[in-house]
Amino acid sequence: MVICGKEMEQQNNKSIERVVSQKAFQMGSSFPCQICVVGFLCGVCLTSLFLAALTSFGATASFGSISFFPFLSTASNSSSSMVNDYANRDCNGLLKERERIMHSEKSTQTGTDEKVSLLYAAWNDLLSKSTDEDSSQKIRLSKSDVPEAPHLENCKLSVEISQRLDTRLPNRSFPPWTIWKGMLDDLPLSATDEQLKSYRDQMITEGAYPPWITGSDAENYPLTRKVQRDLWLHQHPADCNGPNVKFLVADWERLPGFGIGAQIAGMCGLLAIAINENRVLVTNYYNRADHDGCKGSSRASWSCYFFPETSQECRKRAFELMHDKVAWENGVITTKENYTSKVIWSGRVPWVWGNPWSIMQPTTEINGSLIVYHRKMDRRWWRAQAVRYLMRFQSEYTCNIMNIARHNAIGWEAAKIVLASSSEDNVENVKESKRDIERFVWSNHRPWVPRPLLSMHVRMGDKACEMKVAGLEEYMRLAEKVRRRFPQLNSV
Ligand SMILES: *[C@@H]1O[C@H](CO)[C@@H](O)[C@H](O)[C@H]1NC(C)=O
Ligand SMILES: *[C@@H]1O[C@H](CO)[C@@H](O)[C@H](O)[C@H]1NC(C)=O
Ligand SMILES: *[C@@H]1O[C@H](CO)[C@@H](O)[C@H](O)[C@H]1NC(C)=O
Ligand SMILES: *[C@@H]1O[C@H](CO)[C@@H](O)[C@H](O)[C@H]1NC(C)=O
Repeated sequence: MVICGKEMEQQNNKSIERVVSQKAFQMGSSFPCQICVVGFLCGVCLTSLFLAALTSFGATASFGSISFFPFLSTASNSSSSMVNDYANRDCNGLLKERERIMHSEKSTQTGTDEKVSLLYAAWNDLLSKSTDEDSSQKIRLSKSDVPEAPHLENCKLSVEISQRLDTRLPNRSFPPWTIWKGMLDDLPLSATDEQLKSYRDQMITEGAYPPWITGSDAENYPLTRKVQRDLWLHQHPADCNGPNVKFLVADWERLPGFGIGAQIAGMCGLLAIAINENRVLVTNYYNRADHDGCKGSSRASWSCYFFPETSQECRKRAFELMHDKVAWENGVITTKENYTSKVIWSGRVPWVWGNPWSIMQPTTEINGSLIVYHRKMDRRWWRAQAVRYLMRFQSEYTCNIMNIARHNAIGWEAAKIVLASSSEDNVENVKESKRDIERFVWSNHRPWVPRPLLSMHVRMGDKACEMKVAGLEEYMRLAEKVRRRFPQLNSV
């Protein structure tokens, strides 16, 4: 595990207040995190970075279905004219094209580039349409006529699945969490499958497999599954109106100069307080979501980007209690103002799980030396857990943004791969997309990214106030160093 992060409080215990008010200029450049490369080779490492949730780590293979894009085999001189042509066509026109293309000639190298460019542009088109308000038509088009994009996610479906996995089954303690992923737990079982059904029920009763955790226990921080399950349970009481349910309602930090990382670190501290005081944490105003992209109730709320930290019922209840004088007097509700910034930023991490961080072994290289001991491992462990929980499921908005980012970064490569592996028996393939295996099993596939992939967190901009930032060349030098040992590494 390679760990790198904002370590304000770690090196500056005595001046928490100063750090919190962002007057960290004096901290100088002595902190050894000058150069820090975080390498996730082969998608092994999970919870260590808060960015974990923003990237897909699923180790599952990508099952891009192979259908056939009507224009890809047609000879054309100008890709741009073809793209326009494509964009102006309706579904029927596309379907008619199919016949003609079935019998096209073998492609030359330039023909291949052109096809790649066409496919890339077609995906581009679908993407911009899918983020528009009325997207239904284009989504249908995507299914039937353009080969499926392995690096793109069906955001509507994905949110639908997450919704099910974030909602308790009727009269049960947990949502349908099993070791089967995708929609498989939804597959109707016949009477003869009694045995399987009872195993499934048993698994769901235990809630042992929070579905947002991928990889084995050994590939995650100690106790991750249990802690994530407990956090979910804590934040989703069966009855939010129960007399014993207490709340902590907290705005996100919003002082100018607070980066997203500091805001999240602050919220991790508040979640720790909530756990320790047995309160449900309810997050409130979030300045980074206060823009027109965040629609309706997700405006200025964490839920613009990720599933909310607690259920709607609990949020509602907490906001009601905010106006209840008795609830304040009884301590049923507190806000951030009830706690000092010292407690928020460097308070005790929850102790209910013992000290699982004690068996963590850092492996950090700084300036050529291997550092195997870090202070404050408890806080690292806790922040990873808190962040993993808060970012457990993406909102549709985030999903769409991630699609666009992936498309810009690796869309071209994805198009090449799809074309290289596509065959021409497309009629069969269209039927295939309706089969159960697609619907129930492959629904789980995570968007493709090229692997192995070296992941780097390049510190820049304002970070220069707190540390001496290194130039990009320095990062690349380290990347090359990694590659000398892992020559199959081609992506960063
Ligand atoms: C392609 O180019 C050739 C010669 O450069 C030209 O004769 C032909 O009309 C062009 N075809 C299209 C579809 O533009
Ligand atoms: C859930 O529990 C209640 C009371 O315990 C019961 O009346 C109801 O039928 C149960 N519902 C289901 C779907 O089992
Ligand atoms: C939280 O702060 C409010 C307002 O200052 C105060 O009335 C209340 O008693 C505090 N609650 C706790 C549990 O300290
Ligand atoms: C890194 O190593 C170089 C050469 O060994 C040394 O001059 C420099 O001070 C070191 N930097 C840190 C931050 O330890």
